[in-house]
Amino acid sequence: MALSKMEGLEHDEGERLAVDYVEGILQPTPTCDTWVQIWNFQARPDDLLIATYPKAGTTWVQEIVDFIQSEGDADRCHRAPIHDRFPFIEWKIPFLESGLEQAEAMPSPRTLKTHLPIGLLPPSFLEKNCKIIYVARNPKDNMVSYYHFHRMNKALPAPGTWEEYFESFLAGKVCWGSWYDHVRGWWDAKDQHRILYLFYEDMKENPKREIQKLAEFIGKSLDDEILDKIIHHTSFDVMKQNPMANYSSVPAKFMNHSISPFMRKGTVGDWKNHFTVAQNERFDEDYGKRMADTTLTFHFQL
Ligand code: A3P
Repeated sequence: MALSKMEGLEHDEGERLAVDYVEGILQPTPTCDTWVQIWNFQARPDDLLIATYPKAGTTWVQEIVDFIQSEGDADRCHRAPIHDRFPFIEWKIPFLESGLEQAEAMPSPRTLKTHLPIGLLPPSFLEKNCKIIYVARNPKDNMVSYYHFHRMNKALPAPGTWEEYFESFLAGKVCWGSWYDHVRGWWDAKDQHRILYLFYEDMKENPKREIQKLAEFIGKSLDDEILDKIIHHTSFDVMKQNPMANYSSVPAKFMNHSISPFMRKGTVGDWKNHFTVAQNERFDEDYGKRMADTTLTFHFQL
């Protein structure tokens, strides 16, 4: 039933970036080609970094952070598309300004984004003791969201069929590597550094509580009126309509929202519409083995 819903889904095969490995982690080749500069990136002590595995809720947290820093001022948050407000440090698309260039040109205090696993994080972020916000998402929903993102985003390889993608994801043969290594690496590091570790599902369950956690971490105290404004402006429905948050400003030759919109569903449990029974059993067995020895496992309900 679930599989049949996935058959015949289109994706654009043409004109995609090639990928290669950096330290065993797949990356688009322009990122590989500039890896030395990325690794040597100089963080500033007042940088605020948002780190995630792709499709874990990065954009949502970015928008919340900007609204917290702007104390609910929507006009200020609408000043530029989200990808300009938060330079994506390892991002490099031919002929466009790179994330590094954007970051270097940004006045302090900077807000930055990365999908790098902690082992590939430019060392100066930890050396300078920067504040880092990490967001993790249930791996099944994360996988589904990433699959649809591959379909619409030509900077990533074509995903193949859902069945093929499922296998690539489990094997960690996708850009930014294995979900397991990513979420575990950041989890293990969180107590030694200034890392706030959040979960997408908690944000869905109680956005107010999670926004308050973020505000406290950032060092802002917000009254209830501002909090309510932030909850409203960072809701899925409002962000989906907001051209400064929904990636509609990215040229269609890179992101084709008619294949799958960036702001796709924003729900918990969409994996149930995609996984077959057999895939689900296989996933749970693999997950059980790979998460048996970490307390992180208690935070995900599969
Ligand atoms: P879906 O594809 O499941 O809809 P990222 O920003 O890391 O690329 O993650 C994108 C995912 O977060 C997408 O998930 C997107 O819809 C979801 N998302 C973005 N803004 C959201 C919001 N305000 N509330 C809930 N989900 C949101």
